[in-house]
Amino acid sequence: MDIDLADLGFWRRPLKERHEAFARLRELDRPVFFPERRVPLLRSGRGFYALVRHADVVEASRNPKIFSSEPAVTNPEPPGWVKHVFGESMVNMDDPRHARLRRIVSRAFSPRMLSNLQDDIDRVCAEIVDDVVAAGPVDFVDQVAARLPIHVICDMMGIPGDERASVHEHVDVSTAYTGVRPSLAQTARRGARNMLALLALQRLVIRLGRERAQAPGKDLVSALVTANVDGERLTDRELGSFFALLLVAGNETARNTMAHGIKLLTDNPEQRRLLTEDFDARIGGAIEEMVRHVSPIMQFRRTVTQDHDLRGLHLKAGDKVVLFYGSANRDETVFPDPDRFDITRDTKPHVGFGGPGPHFCLGANLARQEMRTMFRELLTRLPEIRSVGEPELLLSNFDNSVRRQAFTF
Ligand code: HEM
Repeated sequence: MDIDLADLGFWRRPLKERHEAFARLRELDRPVFFPERRVPLLRSGRGFYALVRHADVVEASRNPKIFSSEPAVTNPEPPGWVKHVFGESMVNMDDPRHARLRRIVSRAFSPRMLSNLQDDIDRVCAEIVDDVVAAGPVDFVDQVAARLPIHVICDMMGIPGDERASVHEHVDVSTAYTGVRPSLAQTARRGARNMLALLALQRLVIRLGRERAQAPGKDLVSALVTANVDGERLTDRELGSFFALLLVAGNETARNTMAHGIKLLTDNPEQRRLLTEDFDARIGGAIEEMVRHVSPIMQFRRTVTQDHDLRGLHLKAGDKVVLFYGSANRDETVFPDPDRFDITRDTKPHVGFGGPGPHFCLGANLARQEMRTMFRELLTRLPEIRSVGEPELLLSNFDNSVRRQAFTF
């Protein structure tokens, strides 16, 4: 077979070709094993089984005792010293450690907290459109999609205005390193810059945490450092790694969905008409369909803890499986005519926010709220808005990332 998901070359292929390759993998009787080559400076394993069908991704997600998120869900996993310096992120933990952290931080995502954010999200979306009108349309990513998610996370955390420019800069640097590593020199250079950026973010939030512990405000950092859930609170390092997780998990994902989303609405005028004719009734379905179609996070990994049979495949303790969300979301047995963008789909849930289980995206409702508000503002005030040409994609095996998307209105 000419498909090698462990080969970086695969991720350079155009999206359409990659979707075709996954369709061929889905037809096979059982998941295929892809051996991995050694990646300098990073820990790579022997290889992994690719879970490409919807049912397989769901099974692995809802059985964390067999499909563990430890030692890490990224592939290859970060070297041990990274965890040592930054502390561990809950996305890479199993219960009960994971449940403890999730319990503490999930208060930030309660319906009440999210509804408190709505006025702010409305204001930022209005400002973004004001600025686009004043400057004229050039790049949808830079002028629209990239602005909202990071603003919302900074607001939630109560990052002061004068610190925000440096947060933005550090986030840009730290996320530039996800995915593909073209050469040893670039691996080392980008890796070092990435680590320094993450360290700077961690230092900033730890300093804020200490200040807010003395003089708490209404923000999430104050809530996290003063809260006591079952006698527990976050340590400095846990606070730092949670902030990094929010910035990495909640920033690129929503931004890439919006950037691909404007192109999907442009390329599918009949779906756009359906949406604009009855925005309130249709926007929920439109957002789910965007997340399914785009699958902003393309893969996460699990490690098998005990012998287990999955669809005729005998897995052994220590084996790695990779959950390919983009492929599961195009599984034709669940989503008929899966390449079609159809905001009226009435099928099983997609797995764009992860499969059902303890790690299901904590920010899913926040992401939905951000995208609903942004598209409402755009489609109401700029009814002729549309993408122009093809997006410039970032080379990555992890984020379905758009670097640039020209547009007009
Ligand atoms: C379209 C936007 C988004 C997509 C597609 C997305 C996707 C995902 C996926 C696939 C996971 C599952 C990880 C796993 O199973 O191992 C996840 C987890 C997570 N997401 Fe999102 N995400 C989005 C937006 C956000 C936002 C806006 C935030 C917060 C600001 C956020 C915070 C998180 C956190 C904290 C986790 C870890 C949950 C845990 O381990 O318990 N996400 N996300």
